[in-house]
Amino acid sequence: TKPLRIGIAGLGTVGASLARLLITKSETITRRAGRPIEIGAVSARDKTRDRGVDLSALAWFDDPVKLAQDGEIDALVELIGGSEGAALDCVRAALSRGLPVVTANKALLAHHGVALARLAAENGTELLYEAAVAGGIPIIKAMRESLSGNEVSRVTGILNGTCNYMLTRMERENLSFEACLRDAQALGYAEADPTFDIGGFDAAHKLAILTSLAFGTEIDIDSVYVEGIQSITAEDIAAATELGYTIKLLAVAQKTDTGIEQRVHPTMIPAEAAMAQISGVTNAVTVDTDLLGSIMLAGPGAGGNATASAVLSDVMDLATGVVPPTFAVPPDRLVPYERARM
Ligand code: HSE
Repeated sequence: TKPLRIGIAGLGTVGASLARLLITKSETITRRAGRPIEIGAVSARDKTRDRGVDLSALAWFDDPVKLAQDGEIDALVELIGGSEGAALDCVRAALSRGLPVVTANKALLAHHGVALARLAAENGTELLYEAAVAGGIPIIKAMRESLSGNEVSRVTGILNGTCNYMLTRMERENLSFEACLRDAQALGYAEADPTFDIGGFDAAHKLAILTSLAFGTEIDIDSVYVEGIQSITAEDIAAATELGYTIKLLAVAQKTDTGIEQRVHPTMIPAEAAMAQISGVTNAVTVDTDLLGSIMLAGPGAGGNATASAVLSDVMDLATGVVPPTFAVPPDRLVPYERARM
């Protein structure tokens, strides 16, 4: 059978993991997807870095846009990151050419997701992004597909692995903010610019995507109230512990009488609550719905293999031809976001 040839743009932590998985797990992948998935071409700035896999025989493009335009590929996997520049340009180029795109890029989706979904639809192709929210947790497929008959009233999440890892270690080991951040970076959890993590922006990007899936609205990143963990001190954590609380960076989207409210900020949670048990790089999302009541999904929220696992699931969907819609409703049916008065 004909292989699916993918082009990988960006070979950082997630891109390198994906490349390794495609090679080491090729038998399982071929069996389950019904056809082989091959890397047709790649694009990365540093060609010589050791990524634990030999990619030297592949077609290399210096420019990801060229990869998207000219690569002999059936799909583009965008793992560059950032909402503008190369990531946006190569995704646009691929969709315009009718190639499906898989991305883990929440910043890109938060700013351009709706326009890109419309561009995909116009060109008869798909935009998939399971890895963009909560790393390996299958929250996109769950909200878009498994919960499709439900009315959602509220989504609550711990959506940034770096912050949760840092808060957990600051609480349990009394380590400094800086030491915990350095370790999160070394483990490959943090964004290229960690300000996005600790400032709460990464969680805000992810929340804005979940809000759209929950309420069928256009994505509105500018309406998210954002406060990060940068000012949380060891004293704050000690005081919370003393009172029987734990501090988490919580992301909340809910329907109110006046519209939708989206916010990300450090929150004191009773130590016995389910969300308080989410430790380290684990993320968790609770979705409150009419039919199901409340459901909580938890699992690894960052890191190479965890995130690549979600990317791989989208690529395998493309290979099998089981292709879901981009959002919970078709892109031309998304309603404008109505911001709650706070
Ligand atoms: N920097 C992100 C995090 C990676 O720490 O959660 C996963 O999106």
